Amino acid sequence: MLVSGFGSNLQTFIDGSQTGDLPIDIVGVISNKEGVYGLERARNAGIPERCIPHGQFSSRETFDRSLLTQLREWQAELVVLAGFMRILSNGFVKHFENRLINIHPSLLPNYTGLNTHQRVLEDSEKSHGASVHFVIPELDKGPVIIQGKLKINSDDTAETLQQRVHSIEHQIYPLAIKWFAEGRLSVTADGVLLDGEKSAKQVITFN
Ligand code: GRF
Repeated sequence: MLVSGFGSNLQTFIDGSQTGDLPIDIVGVISNKEGVYGLERARNAGIPERCIPHGQFSSRETFDRSLLTQLREWQAELVVLAGFMRILSNGFVKHFENRLINIHPSLLPNYTGLNTHQRVLEDSEKSHGASVHFVIPELDKGPVIIQGKLKINSDDTAETLQQRVHSIEHQIYPLAIKWFAEGRLSVTADGVLLDGEKSAKQVITFN
């Protein structure tokens, strides 16, 4: 797992793997930032953790090579980005093709990039949400595995939307990783299939 901060999504994976709901073994957590709570969550759970500060590297590629070396040492089969705020190089993304997953706080393909909650409000959108997707070299453009949708209320602010979306993330992200771990996902020209077909389970509406 790669994190840069608070690590609440990471915590849902830790909890799920401990209760057995999530059939995964978290082999390690890397942060590109020192002292973040995500690393403490890993330590508290007895999971190997490591900080690799990106500022100590002369280029994106050399930083990513260091990530790769550590992930290889841990024999990571899947890389989960849980609030990891660094763009990864094409070489890294290709290396983990269809084994690199991210969560983005919008209903992709809409609102790629940053400040999604503020931007949907400015555009008077009626709905918003979060998307779990495989990562490809183009930022936030990879095939979507699952989306959680909510209706925007007239009194929503960027802060309330952030909280509501975060709580959706904690439900859809473990589900997507469970599907992956169970071998139920396939990536095709039609997008991501669940059990070989497009499933209604891949878009969930929340209150
Ligand atoms: C989430 O909102 C995610 O969508 C974005 O970063 C945030 C991470 O939150 N990519 P946390 O660190 O898991 O609490």
